Amino acid sequence: MDLAGRDLVAIGDLADDELEALLDTARSFQDDPLGARGRLDGRIVCTAFFEPSTRTRLSFESATHRLGGAVIGFSDAGATSTKKGETLEDTIRVLAGYADLVVVRSPQAGAVRRAAGIVDVPVVNAGDGAGEHPTQTLVDLFTMQRHFGSLRGRRVALVGDLKYGRTVHSLVPALERFDAVPVAVPAPGLGLPDGLGEGVPTTDLESAAATCDVLYVTRVQQERFHDAMAYEAARDAFRVDAELLERMSSKAIVMHPLPRVGEVAADVDPLPSAKYFEQARNGVPVRMAILAHLLGEAP
Ligand code: NCD
Repeated sequence: MDLAGRDLVAIGDLADDELEALLDTARSFQDDPLGARGRLDGRIVCTAFFEPSTRTRLSFESATHRLGGAVIGFSDAGATSTKKGETLEDTIRVLAGYADLVVVRSPQAGAVRRAAGIVDVPVVNAGDGAGEHPTQTLVDLFTMQRHFGSLRGRRVALVGDLKYGRTVHSLVPALERFDAVPVAVPAPGLGLPDGLGEGVPTTDLESAAATCDVLYVTRVQQERFHDAMAYEAARDAFRVDAELLERMSSKAIVMHPLPRVGEVAADVDPLPSAKYFEQARNGVPVRMAILAHLLGEAP
């Protein structure tokens, strides 16, 4: 296993032992922050975000700083030469000359794979349209592992926009590899895409809550809808609140990649089962592990 110099575009890019190694390193960085110090001394990470982001970009930047590296990048492509008509390919070629690793978020599925194919530095997919979001999946697995230990046999109910939600697209195959059991609870018309949904049972929210170990709630991806009414109907079709959680087992947890826009009520926040802010915090050690491995500086 050697992750040094590699890209991370899809969760399938990682072999099982590589997934485990990243999670182990994340654990060691979280438990012993001193062990991370100075690993990326003199290295530069570029965050190229062509779509809005709070957690993914800033946790990558925080992770870089925690490892002693420096960050360049942009969070508003409208302030770059993309605005003048420059292609993604040309932009990436240039960024690869300025940094040792490039983290890319794009509104277009497949764009990050294309970018990765044309430069020699590692390229990390921070979300490509309705495609994948592999680093979020590592954060999700890490959060579940920290809570449950082993994921084997754990039932993970995926609630909401399973059609456009890229976090789910990376998470489903990863759960299957850890012998966890994904269960689909789609908003109307927003089921898992073909090729991902086979073998994943579908249920309703109440039964899912009563039987799952993890309620993984997602936002309806407004930016992928052309029809405002269809978006609103899908968004209003489900809501997780404290009353629903009374059905859950006492060990079960609620996760969400965030941002939430009403699908998890604020009355869930104070409950011990609410794990989404801890999940967001876990973005830092997990992304530290990703950067350290891809840049050949892992423990
Ligand atoms: C997700 C994303 O961008 O796909 N956010 C994140 O990275 N935590 C989820 C979303 O936007 O709904």
